[in-house]
Amino acid sequence: MRLSQDPGWSALLAAFAQAWGASPDGGSAAIRAHLDDVTSRLAAAQGRDPACLPRPPEPLPVTAQLPAALHAGRTGPAAPVSRALAAVASRLTWEWGYTTLPEDLARSYGYCEILGPRGPVQDDGLILGFVLFAPGTFYPPHAHQGIFESYLSVAGHWAQNDGGVEQPGSLVFNPPGTRHFITTGHNGPCLLAYAWVGESAKLGNPGMVLD
Ligand SMILES: [Fe+2]
Repeated sequence: MRLSQDPGWSALLAAFAQAWGASPDGGSAAIRAHLDDVTSRLAAAQGRDPACLPRPPEPLPVTAQLPAALHAGRTGPAAPVSRALAAVASRLTWEWGYTTLPEDLARSYGYCEILGPRGPVQDDGLILGFVLFAPGTFYPPHAHQGIFESYLSVAGHWAQNDGGVEQPGSLVFNPPGTRHFITTGHNGPCLLAYAWVGESAKLGNPGMVLD
């Protein structure tokens, strides 16, 4: 099956393209370059009409929070992304990505990929996905070597490195090697869309390790 034959994944990637394409850059040349990089790689992927790899749907404890996050997200600034995600919610493969992680994090965190080397929409130069946190989560410090990362807030309030409060619609950029930790607000779950750009060898084997 190709992307063009799958309306759910197609609509979700179109929403990513719109969100990253329309995101303000805050006057930062580095963020501008990253936003342009994500949108051009995504356009190239869409133009190739890539294969969709079958991945079995996989829930995690945190996915019990997904309906509340989607309900909050559907009226916010990232509503198109939230609504397109809701349409494919039953098909998502949620995972932790770490071989060992603290017990409380196993209950309160998970991510799913939409586009990337492992699919479900196959691409070697870009990963797009979502990370979901339960209310009041602490996501420990980590860094991604060789990967440019951006988070787009869809639902909930959160902070990175105690540096300010992020709300739906805001975008946070982490250049390669940037050490970061995340805290999320207690009033509801937090849903972030994310993009990773890097060399295909890195994206295929990011080596996620918590400090
Ligand atoms: Fe990260």
